[in-house]
Formats: sequence, C-alpha cells, structure tokens
Amino acid sequence: MPDSSPVPESEAVPESPTTAGLTTTRAPFIESARSRGELFITQPWELYSEENHQSWRNLYARMQDRWERYANHRFLEGLGSLGLKGDRIPRMEEVNRFLAPLTGFMAKPVSGYVPAYLFFDCLGRREFPTTITIRDVATPDYLPEPDIFHDIAGHVPMHTDPAFAETLVRFGQVSSAAVERLVDLEDEETLEERLASTMRAMARFFWFTIEFGLMRQSSSSGSANDVRVYGSGLLSSHGEIAHSVESPQVQRFPFQLEWVVNQGFRIDRYQPLLFVVDSFDHLFEEVNRLEDWMKAGKLDNVAPGEPVISDEEIRISLEAVRG
Ligand SMILES: [Fe+2]
Repeated sequence: MPDSSPVPESEAVPESPTTAGLTTTRAPFIESARSRGELFITQPWELYSEENHQSWRNLYARMQDRWERYANHRFLEGLGSLGLKGDRIPRMEEVNRFLAPLTGFMAKPVSGYVPAYLFFDCLGRREFPTTITIRDVATPDYLPEPDIFHDIAGHVPMHTDPAFAETLVRFGQVSSAAVERLVDLEDEETLEERLASTMRAMARFFWFTIEFGLMRQSSSSGSANDVRVYGSGLLSSHGEIAHSVESPQVQRFPFQLEWVVNQGFRIDRYQPLLFVVDSFDHLFEEVNRLEDWMKAGKLDNVAPGEPVISDEEIRISLEAVRG
C-alpha cells in the first residue's frame, strides 16, 4: 500500500495478515488459529514480512562464530546436513526433506505453547512441535515465548544425530508410560499429586539436558576435556552460549539424576547451574534410569517448586491417556 498520504484513523483499513507478518505475539494468523483452538497448523511462509526475514538474518549472522566456538560438533554437522541458511526464514517442508531421511524426525508447526504431556508425546512419535513466529527485529534478545529461531536453529540441527534423536524418542515414551502407570489410581488426590510430581521431574530433566545441557568434549590439543553446548536454549542465545561455558558465575556439575529431578529453575535469567554429560550415549542411559526411577515410584514425590504443573496440564495428560 502506498504510504504517501496518511489515512484518517476512522477510515484506516485494518492491518492485513500479509503486512502484519508473523512476529511473536503480534501475528493475526496465529491469533485466529488460537481462537479456533488449533494447535497444530501450517507454516504460511508467504506471510513472513521483510522485517521477519531480517530478524532471522540478524540472529543467524551473530551466532555463527559463537556456534563455531561453543557448540557440540554434532550440532555443527547438523547445521550443514540440513542446509540451513542465514538469508531467509526456512520453509519447514524443506528442513524436513533433509531431516526425515536422517532420523525420521519432522518439525511440526504449532500455534504456540504445547502442554508438556502432548509435547513429550510428540517426541515419542518423532515429531517436534515447532513455533513459526519470529521475535521482533528491534529486540533480538527479548523472547516473550519461544520462536522459530530457537526451535529451528537451536533444536532441529540436534535432531539430525541418531543417538540424540533416539534419546528424544525414548524420553517421549517414558513420559507416556509415566502417565499410564498412574492413571488407574483410585484416589484422585494421590493421583494428581504423583502425576504433578512426575511431570515436574520430567520437565526438569528436559530443561537441564535438551534445553540447557553441556557435554564434555575432547579439546583439539587432546590433552584435556573441555565443555561444549548441546542444549537448545543455549544454542539459540547469543549472550548465554558464551556465558554458559566461560562464566565463573555458572556452577557446572557432572550430570546427577537424583539432583536434576529435584532441582527447580527459573526461565527469566541466565542459568546459574548447569549439568554436564559425557556423551549422547550417556544421556540415553540417563533416560533409561529415569524410566527405572519412574517405575519404582521415585518420581512420585520430588522436591516442590519450579516448574509449577497446573491443574490444566494434569487434566490434559489424563484425558490424552484415558482417551
Ligand atoms: Fe526449546
């Protein structure tokens, strides 16, 4: 639309979905999908505005040297095998065309927050719920909610690695088995308490591994081990990726399941405590241990605190299992 003469407010044409783009929290396409209760959607790529693509370009460009320096080498290989580029927001069907033959995983567009149980259940089916909106170009470090840069540039390259992909699938299966184990408890209060505790434990495990995990990696000198990033919250954050590896303010400890499932976290700050695994095989083994613990009832009463599992989350998980 030409912008030569201002339109009086009373005659102004409402912003069309095309001009509004797919900016986080300001996308009419997303608003209408949510108002219809649609969680799984398509990626209307033509709706991205030039500003949206510029946002991707800026975010991608400034991560390049950070990834080279701090990312796990499997992530770097994944970037290459997906053919991700920094010039435009990727089309998910193109990403999936490269991804699916490698591990069977597919990015699946969603309209926003996916309840924890449904999210983990998707992982068990090799589907990764993926946000399609992108943060405002003017505020690259402000994320009111996850965006496509976090999901596609931060998570999806890891899904090209078979050992990592199998770990995600296993985790999804454990989540389903955890709800199925509890669903027939007769006392509703006990059921809800144990389910909330188990979901809290699962969310903490996911947070300290898939989102904010560090991994030991042999240094190029071969003399000592150094730490590389594999968690997607770190891989998509220009500031925190360096902070997680370099800052003396961060406590880094070898992964300990008993600690992780009882450890709360806050999402609104750089993480002060991170856990280090030895390898993706090690991570897979820890998911197996998580399952053993779940079956033995050791997740039924983990420490209270973050994340708070809402009644709605519990209701959704029970409904999903009861059918
Ligand atoms: Fe994430």
